[in-house]
Amino acid sequence: KATRQAVIAGNWKMNKTRPEAKALIEEMIPLVKDADCGVIICVPYTNLETAIAATKGTNIKVGAENCHWAKSGAFTAEVSADMLKEVGVEYVIIGHSERRQYFGETDVTVNQRVRAALDAGLKVILCVGELLNEREQGITEEICSMQTKIALAGVSKEEMKDIIIAYEPVWAIGTGKTATADQADEVCGAIRGVIAKLYDDATAQATTIQYGGSMNAKNADELLGKVNVDGGLIGGASLKAPDFAAIIAAAS
Ligand code: G3P
Repeated sequence: KATRQAVIAGNWKMNKTRPEAKALIEEMIPLVKDADCGVIICVPYTNLETAIAATKGTNIKVGAENCHWAKSGAFTAEVSADMLKEVGVEYVIIGHSERRQYFGETDVTVNQRVRAALDAGLKVILCVGELLNEREQGITEEICSMQTKIALAGVSKEEMKDIIIAYEPVWAIGTGKTATADQADEVCGAIRGVIAKLYDDATAQATTIQYGGSMNAKNADELLGKVNVDGGLIGGASLKAPDFAAIIAAAS
């Protein structure tokens, strides 16, 4: 764990107008400036330029919440990885369960988007996670392992330095139901095992694997204390500067 930097990323989802985004970032900057971990905010497309301008010269990095797999073309309402890169975006979330659930994202399109993001020079936060019924059937590790393997098809060992994996059990997202620290550690560890098999142990040990799902100021300490949990992908709590800062403090 000592070799890996913890990374706390906010996923704002479909929240905040531009003035609201600017105000939240301005409130956040002094609270997180001494963070001893990576700090990323992933914001809606309309807020990207605002966020990039507002975080300039700070330790906060900016990400988008998705990108398309094609370079350009007839894909109404989609945004390409090159477009994000040109705006100055550094990270992009790919494969969030809300994309998988509501927008028909599949393991294969997740893989295509990962490839497109890397080709454009973006860093990826790749989300994987099981549904409640999959956990109840005892197939959590198989599901997460399959999602990870398919998403990383065609990704080289060298490119793994630009990949963060976020383990987000779907039943824990926005529900207030957090996975226990042991559950999070177990699955993050299993995903690390998949990386070791796909690449090698050094790559697995160097890969940042976050937990996401109702992580907040109260439970962050315990979750982040686990050897395989290298940070968090934070939804609701990233929309309040003091809460987000408290999670960052727990990771530092
Ligand atoms: O991507 C972050 C996420 O889905 C977790 O959301 O609101 O449960 O922290 P939340």
